[in-house]
Amino acid sequence: MSTPPPGLIVLHGANLDLLGERPSVHYGTITLPALEQMVAREAERLGWTCICRQTNHEGEFIEYVHEHRHAGALLVNPGAWTHYSYAIRDALEVVTCPIAEVHLSDITAREEWRRHSVISPVASFTIAGKGPAGYLEAIRRLVALTNVQPSRGGE
Ligand code: DQA
Repeated sequence: MSTPPPGLIVLHGANLDLLGERPSVHYGTITLPALEQMVAREAERLGWTCICRQTNHEGEFIEYVHEHRHAGALLVNPGAWTHYSYAIRDALEVVTCPIAEVHLSDITAREEWRRHSVISPVASFTIAGKGPAGYLEAIRRLVALTNVQPSRGGE
């Protein structure tokens, strides 16, 4: 029996459903469906499957993390939860696969409260300020990090 392809799970948090309407100076003009399509294409080009989810509810975000904690890889942009959600941080700590934390804007160069991420310590790496290109870079880095063995499966 052939091994299923590894799965990339892409989780977007609060207000990212409104990409395209949010301040373009920080987030550009790309919409969430366009971003997800771009991400899925890159994942599939690299031989991965891809599931994208977005929610404005912190508990639901946590449940997505639980559900996919043994995926091939996780790419998360938790939005503003990045800066204070210890509950999301604790959920990500349990995940067994590599985690990319990605932000469209450069959170280190914005308001004081945005400069700190409680997610970064549990992420494999963080990319911020590169716009949609940062997502593509994250997928390539996740694939390189994962280097999936046939027995490991994935989702
Ligand atoms: C964001 C940065 C966060 O500070 C903000 O709350 C977001 C989006 C980004 O992608 O740049 O909603 O995560």
